[in-house]
Amino acid sequence: MSASCILVIGSGGREHAIAWRLARDPHAPTVHVAPGNQGIAQYFTCHAVCETDPTAVVTLAQRLRAELVVVGPEAPLAAGVADALAAAGIVVFGASRECARLEASKWYAKQVMREAGVPTAEALECTSVTQAATALETMSRFAPPWVLKADGLAAGKGVLVTRERAAAEAFARECLEGARFGEGGRRLVIEEFLAGDEASVIAICDGERFVLLPAARDHKRAFDGDEGANTGGMGAFAPLVDVTPALESQIGERIVAPVLRVMAGRGAPYRGALYVGLMLGPAGPRVVEFNARFGDPETQVILPLLGASLSGMLEHAALGRLAVGECTRLPGAAVAVAITDVDYPGTARGGGRIAGLEDLEAAQSGVTVFHAGTRLEGGQWRVAGGRAAYVMAEGEDVAAARSRAYAAIARLGGDGWRVRRDIAASAEQRNLEHGKARPAVRGVD
Ligand code: AMP
Ligand code: GLY
Repeated sequence: MSASCILVIGSGGREHAIAWRLARDPHAPTVHVAPGNQGIAQYFTCHAVCETDPTAVVTLAQRLRAELVVVGPEAPLAAGVADALAAAGIVVFGASRECARLEASKWYAKQVMREAGVPTAEALECTSVTQAATALETMSRFAPPWVLKADGLAAGKGVLVTRERAAAEAFARECLEGARFGEGGRRLVIEEFLAGDEASVIAICDGERFVLLPAARDHKRAFDGDEGANTGGMGAFAPLVDVTPALESQIGERIVAPVLRVMAGRGAPYRGALYVGLMLGPAGPRVVEFNARFGDPETQVILPLLGASLSGMLEHAALGRLAVGECTRLPGAAVAVAITDVDYPGTARGGGRIAGLEDLEAAQSGVTVFHAGTRLEGGQWRVAGGRAAYVMAEGEDVAAARSRAYAAIARLGGDGWRVRRDIAASAEQRNLEHGKARPAVRGVD
């Protein structure tokens, strides 16, 4: 049975992509989004509810008679929205509050990884500046660079990778004694630096079984050449040739399967999307982080590559009935480039004009616009948040998708927005050079 009415929770580019792909399922379900945004509301009915309020979400799902609810962001999961929906008898694709701790606490994730024997960076926990100083000393055998992480949710900004010991100490002090990252910064994880190239692999899990989606790469740094601060994601591409079928099997067997076993053993079977952030280094894949959800912006490039029924797969996962081999992959590639506020990831100025965004899909074939933070004013799209929208292009390979995405962006005018110019550029090169030695250290402040 396929859900004919689906509710997607969230308001970003990822949720737009999820709704878009669900609506393309063969049985053409009706898709609602809550709270959504003005861009998403052009295509789907949006409902103004607070996404972290479990009661409000349950009430809406009941009113709509939603047969499947898909929860996008981490905050509602950590707030127990999936638990509340499940308790009300509603089929929900999204991690329980306990499972979402794999993302909401980096130290919890480390403990699960240890128990599961998952390869990851060695790490120490600190709750005081004195402990942090001792941990930095202990980690001297790996560092510099030093890697310090706020334990709790910090919108992708809670990690410092630095070669400056003084900067590491200052960060520790600001978190542990100041107010940086609030409660989420009251505990720090100080860990071994992992060298290599990053990859994102998302597993759709039903508590016991899982299927892996095509691997993707996010571009987290603000500027071209991986310069500048970490952001929520400036763009992404998929698939990733670095993740060969053999490596993918290894990721499934050595990382996803043992984590599912440990979570089930803890009485918290993992049902939902498990995002595995990996460093592909000389010692094989090691886990940098888990997220308890679909990645943003990886989802914008992974979902266009999926065949068959997405709602069917998510529903089966939610019900504990996933069929191995359920996920079929289409040939080709996808690239997504973020259009952001000109000052992003600093405080957004807002109000930038993205002239021509409304006509982009018609003007350039193979292009889809996913709205993340836009506002319609006098028929024109304006920047309303840090990340405004994603221009996603499909193509026969990454190079074709990339040139299509940038050709579309070249049609845009206005002011107050910017893009990175090198999204997926390394992929073209990597496709040619695959197998050669990788640079040892990248993305260090
Ligand atoms: P996280 O929020 O844990 O994904 O960290 C954000 C980013 O910091 C990652 O995407 C990496 O680029 C970098 N990072 C985190 N942990 C490490 C590590 N142990 N070694 C090297 N880079 C890391
Ligand atoms: N793209 C990284 C994340 O979703 O957190």
